[in-house]
Amino acid sequence: MEIPLIDLGIQHRRLEPEITAALQRVLASRRFILGPEGRALEAGIARLCGVAHAVGVASGSAGLLLALQAAGVQRGDRVVTTPFTFLATVGAIRLLGAEPRFVDIGRNDFQIDGAAAHEAAARWGAAAVVPVHLFGGCAGAACEDFGAAVVIEDAAQALGAHFPGNAERRAGSAGLCGVFSFFPTKNLGAVGDGGIVVTNDAALAERLRRLRNHGRSETPPQAGEVGFNHRLDELQAAVLNVKLPHLPAWIEARRRNARAYEAAFREAGLDETLLLPPIPPGHSVHHYVIRTPRRDALQRHLRAAGIETGIYYDPPLHLHPAMRDLGYRRGDFPEAERAAREVLALPVYPELPRAHLLRVVETIASFFRPPGRRTVAHTEGDSV
Ligand SMILES: Cc1ncc(COP(=O)(O)O)c(C=O)c1O
Repeated sequence: MEIPLIDLGIQHRRLEPEITAALQRVLASRRFILGPEGRALEAGIARLCGVAHAVGVASGSAGLLLALQAAGVQRGDRVVTTPFTFLATVGAIRLLGAEPRFVDIGRNDFQIDGAAAHEAAARWGAAAVVPVHLFGGCAGAACEDFGAAVVIEDAAQALGAHFPGNAERRAGSAGLCGVFSFFPTKNLGAVGDGGIVVTNDAALAERLRRLRNHGRSETPPQAGEVGFNHRLDELQAAVLNVKLPHLPAWIEARRRNARAYEAAFREAGLDETLLLPPIPPGHSVHHYVIRTPRRDALQRHLRAAGIETGIYYDPPLHLHPAMRDLGYRRGDFPEAERAAREVLALPVYPELPRAHLLRVVETIASFFRPPGRRTVAHTEGDSV
């Protein structure tokens, strides 16, 4: 594709000397598992999120599983979450033998409906609520106090985001714990899999450290409970330590791109044809997702023009064959189902050239409008 959804090569080429040096440092140390790179990353992420503890894990999915387990969620417990998210959110709940109870998303912001989540948690006597900070925004109302149910934030897509109206309240810090993913395409991406769990609860952090390492404590060196291997390795942590200081600038560049899209769509007269995403303060713009009922045809039109886009998520979770036994049917979550039909993620990575962004908008304009009408003004240079 001429314009890819994300180009990781640019970032890696710019940081290549530092990344190579970091990898060589780890190779020379011969310390590949649970070492100083992992500890440095944990300290850096805890600082970024304004929390006391961070525990590196093998992936965001592993982090969700461990967080639920460490929080005491057990077989048969009910866990309230959204059907409009990645499979990992519900996979972790189900692998523990707990039962997901879905709640629909709000009308236009993709996030779980906070009031409905509270109502469902009370109705089902939920043990936990897992709000998902989708696309880099914060699922605000679903992180408030749920009484008996603990809140585990699936913040996989929202590292560095903060809640609107409170820059001190970081994604991942509002509930009992928050889980992040370092999947390569995330705002802070590893060169493989990785994840981290953040919390202010010292006992929970200790339990997470044991559970990620077969349930073993160091003194005495034995397993008090059954765990598994969910460790983050040193090579991934070393790369992430190089990238972490750049994250705020990368998020700012993503926000700049989001603002540029909005301005260009308005300029092209498309802001009513398309539903543009709300980008409140603190949004980390992991994905920039527009909506149109003509999504599939628009995606084909963009692909034919060499522009890659993404669909997150279709179908919604309750309509996957693997979830059939939960008893949900089409029509149960109309907002999630409508979003699933309409969403289209556009390239928004930090180094996206401004000319590419404007070409995306022009190509979308040419889909909705006969050729030869208004075009998008090329007024600005390349971004970052
Ligand atoms: C919302 C959400 N939850 C969980 C995950 C799982 O993270 P990972 O891919 O690191 O296992 C992802 C990432 O892909 C995600 O987007």
